[in-house]
Amino acid sequence: MKEKLEKIIASAQDEIAAGDTLHQLNQLKSKFLGKKSELMDMMKQMSSLSSEEKPEAGKLLNLAKKQINRLLNSRELEIKELDYRRTLSIEQIDITMPGRRREKGSLHPITLVMQEIEDIFISMGFDIAEGPDIEDEFHNFDALNTPKDHPARDLSDTFYIGDDVLLRTQTSTVQVRVMQNHKPPIRIISPGSCYRNENDASHSPMFHQVEALVVDDGINFADLRDILNVFVKKVFGDQIESRFRPHFFPFTEPSAEIDISCVKCYGKGCNLCKGSGWLEMGGAGMVDPNVFEMLDIDSEKYTGYAFGLGIERIAMIKYKIPDMRLLYENDVRFLRQF
Ligand code: PHE
Repeated sequence: MKEKLEKIIASAQDEIAAGDTLHQLNQLKSKFLGKKSELMDMMKQMSSLSSEEKPEAGKLLNLAKKQINRLLNSRELEIKELDYRRTLSIEQIDITMPGRRREKGSLHPITLVMQEIEDIFISMGFDIAEGPDIEDEFHNFDALNTPKDHPARDLSDTFYIGDDVLLRTQTSTVQVRVMQNHKPPIRIISPGSCYRNENDASHSPMFHQVEALVVDDGINFADLRDILNVFVKKVFGDQIESRFRPHFFPFTEPSAEIDISCVKCYGKGCNLCKGSGWLEMGGAGMVDPNVFEMLDIDSEKYTGYAFGLGIERIAMIKYKIPDMRLLYENDVRFLRQF
């Protein structure tokens, strides 16, 4: 019996040492200690032994059981330790590996130009005003003295969202909002997005303008000329001149278009200015008395000027961008240059 037990223990020792998963260990446990194991058989046969043999046999059997249990337990600890090590090595972080760099963003050229314009006008005592992109006909047309049959109101020029709801076609809407809520003196600029149904190399369906409005006692056309001249020189440099060309806007009288001397040829004529020596930048004029009257501002007492500049135009001229669409394609190779 002793020999038989020694054999069982020896084979348990070999098999348990070779088992390398907890599942295998469980199987070995039932093989060596389970109901159908050799050891259990031997325990059952104890009853057939004589009373002298019993105590000795019982002791041996119990020792063998304990020993096999000890083997199983210590192998279980080993396997758990190995599993733990394996997990650690899989999840290990190599702290010597160089990190992945995040690309640093930069401000969009439109934003850069807007911020520069804001800084210039704030330094000259202007406030910043804002208005919504989604507007009604009153603020975009009626209050700006635009006749009901004006072509700008046409579906082919203006994006209508619904009856009397549209995307503003100009920041001049903010002039109306400011005059509704403030009495003179008024001195504001308002940068923002505008929308028109047009799309080519120099027109985008969404674009940006900066509006200016100054209303007070004794404001005249020379003030308008002066402020624009100062602004142009601050943005483009001292060599650049500005000029006014007679024009028409329903909400200003007289009205003018603003040109600056070509930043490439300084007025001689080149491909950028198409030979004219001048580049177009926006519109301007003295606020039409009709607009004042509609907004309850005394047109006998007050005068004012307004202008609207195209921010894309300014960005394109300043940074020599040949096609407006480049500004909206979000190609990092383009954007990285600013
Ligand atoms: N709102 C005009 C436009 O978009 C520009 C403008 C603004 C003209 C203010 C005169 C005064 O064309």
